[in-house]
Amino acid sequence: MKLLIDDANIEKIKKLYDLYPIDGVTTNPSILAKSKRNPYEVLKEIRECIGDDELHAQVLSRTAEGMIEEAHKMAEILGKNTFIKVPSIPEGFKAMKALSKEGFKITATAIYTPMQAYLAAKSGADYAAPYVNRIDNLGADGIASTKLIQNIFETNGFDTEILAASFKNSNQVQELCAYGVGAATVAPDVIENLIKNAC
Ligand code: G3P
Repeated sequence: MKLLIDDANIEKIKKLYDLYPIDGVTTNPSILAKSKRNPYEVLKEIRECIGDDELHAQVLSRTAEGMIEEAHKMAEILGKNTFIKVPSIPEGFKAMKALSKEGFKITATAIYTPMQAYLAAKSGADYAAPYVNRIDNLGADGIASTKLIQNIFETNGFDTEILAASFKNSNQVQELCAYGVGAATVAPDVIENLIKNAC
């Protein structure tokens, strides 16, 4: 399972990269807003900091046309190995279909149900990102839903990998690591707690 940092704070990213085997960084609009700076300036700094590792950055537009335009801008500014995070909404699936035909790397984000992940995979997403803890907060089971997505991908022969997100504790990360999901993006405080997990 790949391990990514779900944060845009440069100091935290540098510290975690120094200590742990990290595979990349994911951001979203609320994470970037915390810096109170131009989001592209922050993203460029992250890119400089992590080299060619995976950088995931989210589009803001709610229309497919707007998402596609933003994807072009992001890829141009942030370079190779940038994954365009596209929300798994109807216009998002339309954008994913078009972007995958153009060869963009796509992360289908904000996934709350297994069938959203199924549609993302069919639309050409490289990653599907279920929000584990937020699914729990809706009264469903985030871990079980993510395992079901893994089964759906394997059974249907999709190349799409899971990038599990929205973790609140190390046990949630451990459960999915043991199940063999492709990747997890984890907030710095939860990464630091991974070494405190006692079975
Ligand atoms: O990557 C998605 C993630 O940032 C959402 O996490 O903790 O806000 O539910 P959270």
